[in-house]
Amino acid sequence: MRPWPSDPATPDHERIANAVAFCERVALRHSCRSFSNKPVPRAVIETAIAAAGTAPSGANRQPWHFAAISSPGAKTALRVAVEEEERNFYGGIGGSEWQGLLRDLGARAEKPYLETAPWVLIAFGQTKATETDRFPNPHMTESVSIACGLLLTTLHLAGLATLVHTATPARFLNRLCRRPEHERPVMMIVVGHPAADAEVPAAALVRKPLDQIASWL
Ligand SMILES: Cc1cc2nc3c(=O)[nH]c(=O)nc-3n(C[C@H](O)[C@H](O)[C@H](O)COP(=O)(O)O)c2cc1C
Repeated sequence: MRPWPSDPATPDHERIANAVAFCERVALRHSCRSFSNKPVPRAVIETAIAAAGTAPSGANRQPWHFAAISSPGAKTALRVAVEEEERNFYGGIGGSEWQGLLRDLGARAEKPYLETAPWVLIAFGQTKATETDRFPNPHMTESVSIACGLLLTTLHLAGLATLVHTATPARFLNRLCRRPEHERPVMMIVVGHPAADAEVPAAALVRKPLDQIASWL
């Protein structure tokens, strides 16, 4: 047990101001799809992963593992595999309305940023504590997703650009990152500095207003 960290009697107006300031900062986060190759120190990535590791998790199983990829060889292998998956996607259901929607948001089948950006993080979710464990980790996906939110926020506050990417070629990612079979790739997060030509697509600027995303009972 540890006593609850004491909260000096912060006046409510200060709490509101803190919340507003944080909200304004996170509102500036957007997905970047054009990265420069400017390096990002490993210490920033380590700290962001440490922040992710403070997330709440089902039964405190902390069912996450982050593989941090920076070597050019691994990034090239990643790009080749992801682009192959994406070509299948865009050639299949990509012919539908989805394609237009994703294009408006800036998504493309070609992913040069997977090689240009200095870091690509793969968030793995552990379906159980060990390969031989009989009990599944409860709420694994929810727990890993919250951890990824903290990771993204830390990187944003550190002044870096990120892109959350689906982690589709599941088995390939396990092999590339040398992760065991009971782990599942949940998310891919590209991290770096934005390139000079980076832009936020107009479609991404549209955010639902508070009265559409909240109700008060
Ligand atoms: C789980 C998840 C998967 C995503 N996958 C992709 C992806 O495969 N390719 C891509 O370009 N963007 C991807 N995105 C980014 C979204 O398109 C983006 O977050 C959304 O359009 C809102 O834009 P914003 O991040 O700039 O606010 C993904 C986002 C999430 C949360």
